[in-house]
Amino acid sequence: MEKKNIDWSNIGFGYMPTDYRYVSMYQNGSWDEGVLTSDPNITLNECACVLQYAQTCFEGLKAYTTEDGHIVTFRPDLNGERMENSAKGLEMPPFPKERFVDAITKVVEANAAFVPPYGSGATLYIRPYMFGYDSIIGVKPANIYQFRVFCTPVGPYFKGGAKPITIRVSDFDRAAPHGTGHIKAGLNYAMSLHAIVDAHKNGFDENIYLDPQTRTKIEETGGANVIFITKDGKLVTPKSNSILPSITRRSILQVARDYLGMETEEREIYLDEVKDFAECGLCGTAAVISPVGKIVDHGKEICFPAGMEKMGPVTQKLYETLTGIQMGHIKAPEGWIHVIK
Ligand code: PLP
Ligand code: COI
Repeated sequence: MEKKNIDWSNIGFGYMPTDYRYVSMYQNGSWDEGVLTSDPNITLNECACVLQYAQTCFEGLKAYTTEDGHIVTFRPDLNGERMENSAKGLEMPPFPKERFVDAITKVVEANAAFVPPYGSGATLYIRPYMFGYDSIIGVKPANIYQFRVFCTPVGPYFKGGAKPITIRVSDFDRAAPHGTGHIKAGLNYAMSLHAIVDAHKNGFDENIYLDPQTRTKIEETGGANVIFITKDGKLVTPKSNSILPSITRRSILQVARDYLGMETEEREIYLDEVKDFAECGLCGTAAVISPVGKIVDHGKEICFPAGMEKMGPVTQKLYETLTGIQMGHIKAPEGWIHVIK
């Protein structure tokens, strides 16, 4: 199969239409069998529930070319499971996780020419999503839904790739104490748009959000969970009911323990103690592990010892081990790698 003529090493995190996407429709109580289509556009009624009441959720995962030339995805079953939970939280009919993995497989197979080659630094980002399709004017869930999957080749989420970034403590919240922070609802991202534009305007790469109830504890950023490394080499990460259960973070915890022999801890982390950590990183599908060099809290700078030039040493080891597993040169735990072709 011939790859598309794309300058793989120089693409950013943007959308580029590929040849095929998947669509399945839910009507009269069941999902249809689903098809691949070449049409990237969707026609909706002006009163579609997604347009009026934001009834939509999504997922994000990647396909990789491994060292030996296979195309694989990383733990897609967990994305399928999370999307079932997101759908339930928004009163949408879950798209079954087994069918989710099948839809991902079909889309990646059909767009194999867009999967960036091994070693290019790029990957194929896969975006499953679903939304309330029919016209709804009183506040209630839709009756008809679409589940779709498209994909697009991407480079690093943060400009500069592995260079440490600067983030600020946000005055805005991304989630409510008993709200939707733990599911991947589009509305959480709408909540973060003003905050991210304002952060960029003020020279910051991202926002770090505090817990919405007390505003004293670290939660996560707009698109990634957070990890810290203590001075004695322990991995510590926030525990909260209002953050997204990141598949990357859950995988890193296991990698830290089982591959690197590190101690790990999931607990509440107070903003006050952040100054005592040795390293900080953002983790997620898009972010992979992006090092944080500095957190700015209302003019007060918290600078991590590894500085602004390169990743801290422990973050680097975690990054190499995780991406080594994803790219196939380190043996993965049972069930983590889904081979597509
Ligand atoms: N937190 C938020 C708000 C996100 O949007 C994402 C991205 O999916 C993550 C965390 C990381 O989750 P995952 O590692 O499953 O991609
Ligand atoms: C992902 O990492 O898949 C996300 O959904 C984050 C998004 C902000 C691009």
